[in-house]
Amino acid sequence: MRALHIAASILTLSMGALPATTAIAQSAGEAEFMQACASCHGTDGHGNGPLAGYLSVAVPDLTTIAARNDGDFPMLDVIRMIDGRSTREGHGGPMPVWGNRFQWDIGDQAGPFGSELIVRGRILALAEYLDQIQE
Ligand code: HEC
Repeated sequence: MRALHIAASILTLSMGALPATTAIAQSAGEAEFMQACASCHGTDGHGNGPLAGYLSVAVPDLTTIAARNDGDFPMLDVIRMIDGRSTREGHGGPMPVWGNRFQWDIGDQAGPFGSELIVRGRILALAEYLDQIQE
């Protein structure tokens, strides 16, 4: 319970101080992207990572998501796509289910609710980074 309170306080604080944390979220999201996503989507997000050629499906260009959606970045859809736990495509598709992977990383170190907050924070940082690299 204590972990949940601490995690909730951090979340509330970071929401209040948006300009300061946006910079942190961007760099965290970028670092996460380079580590977890660039192998397929490429370091520039254009879908030309070293693993892309080994997949049977095309790896999408993540810098054109907004352009393909009438200029709007569909934040919620992107979060769901990265998380993968609530989408049918996420299971058995080539795109890994990051919600599960991040959950396994943390285990129960922060309790069930604290862990879920951390998972969502990592996914949100990634989605914010993708929003930043739209062309
Ligand atoms: C093993 C290769 C691979 C890795 C690693 C990977 N992806 Fe993907 N990603 C795909 C493929 C392939 C698709 C196309 C959808 C599908 O077929 O599952 C996709 C689709 C997406 C989409 C939807 C794009 C669109 O145009 O609708 C987003 C967003 C995305 N990935 C984000 C990420 C993020 C963020 C990471 C890192 C945390 C990541 N991907 C890591 C292969 C990968």
